[in-house]
Amino acid sequence: MKAIILNDFGGVEQLRQAELPRPGIKDGEVLVRVKAISINPVDAKTRAGKGLAEMLKEEKIIILGWDISGLVTESTSPLFTEGDEVFGLIHFPGHGKCYADYVVAPAEHLALKPENITHEQAAAATLAPLTAWQAFSDYGRLRPGQRVLIHAAAGGVGHYAVQIARHIGAYVIATSSPENKDFVLSLGANEHIDYKAQRFEEVAKDIDFVLDTVSAENSERSLSVLKKGGTLISTNGLSDATKEKAKASGMFVQSAGEDMQHIAQLLEEGELRSEIMKVFPFAQMGEAHLLVETGRVRGKVVVVTE
Ligand SMILES: NC(=O)c1ccc[n+]([C@@H]2O[C@H](COP(=O)([O-])OP(=O)(O)OC[C@H]3O[C@@H](n4cnc5c(N)ncnc54)[C@H](OP(=O)(O)O)[C@@H]3O)[C@@H](O)[C@H]2O)c1
Repeated sequence: MKAIILNDFGGVEQLRQAELPRPGIKDGEVLVRVKAISINPVDAKTRAGKGLAEMLKEEKIIILGWDISGLVTESTSPLFTEGDEVFGLIHFPGHGKCYADYVVAPAEHLALKPENITHEQAAAATLAPLTAWQAFSDYGRLRPGQRVLIHAAAGGVGHYAVQIARHIGAYVIATSSPENKDFVLSLGANEHIDYKAQRFEEVAKDIDFVLDTVSAENSERSLSVLKKGGTLISTNGLSDATKEKAKASGMFVQSAGEDMQHIAQLLEEGELRSEIMKVFPFAQMGEAHLLVETGRVRGKVVVVTE
């Protein structure tokens, strides 16, 4: 099978296409013929020696990537059979090995891909919406009618978070640059804040829930907009001061087939859609990383295997 291996932690020149034996499956696993892979900031961070690098550094061969959509070609699990179209976040946090045209996945990390969406749209809708889903249902609990502030609403996590929050019935206030204002409003946000023109804390008030995917500093600034007893969930760490002052917690998304089934249902019902900024061929994985590293991606970046 073809795969992209990481020679060493560093720049995109460390990503190298290689021919490897097709892996075998154990109990409870399926072999997926991958059609599309989505690229997250953690892919680029890990490649550069941060992110999950510490966890992977002892592995003999490192294959990055965690988000896939494809076709089941072998299964030892009663959950899926050959020919099923599936998508999911594989072994996160861990060694996903998803930059390949065949990936071994625990069946319990997957869900059936809705028929009304493409493999590109499905691959995109894995780590990013799961992060929003787990923020709103596990780390915190977002309730109908609550006011939620979603930072970086045009990004991978953010654009799904806006849609999921609206589905829950929350009132959504979303931040982005002015270029992404119409996009963010088209996702269902009730209010938009141009974070470049205004300090968000001077505009947003009485917030029940903040989802911050920007930075620990941005989270600290967000404290002042929270109602007493409000919740702040951050994907990028929190300062000690923030932790002391509010019901604030950091989060780490986890592979979870059950959560993926909720995502699949929302996609099927048209409650959730994937925005894809650009699709790259497999041989241009490095270019895909460079685009993600700009921090300016609208929605998601996807790589296809053929
Ligand atoms: N801990 C976890 O479990 C977990 C899970 C998922 C992601 N993350 C982390 O969360 C971060 C976001 O992930 P992602 O996939 O959503 O990234 P992304 O898709 O690369 O985010 C890009 C978006 O960020 C927006 N942005 C940048 N700076 C901003 C600011 N100061 N205020 C508002 N928007 C801003 C940009 O919008 P404009 O161009 O309009 O500015 C752009 O659309 C990454 O650091 C990622 O590693 C962590």
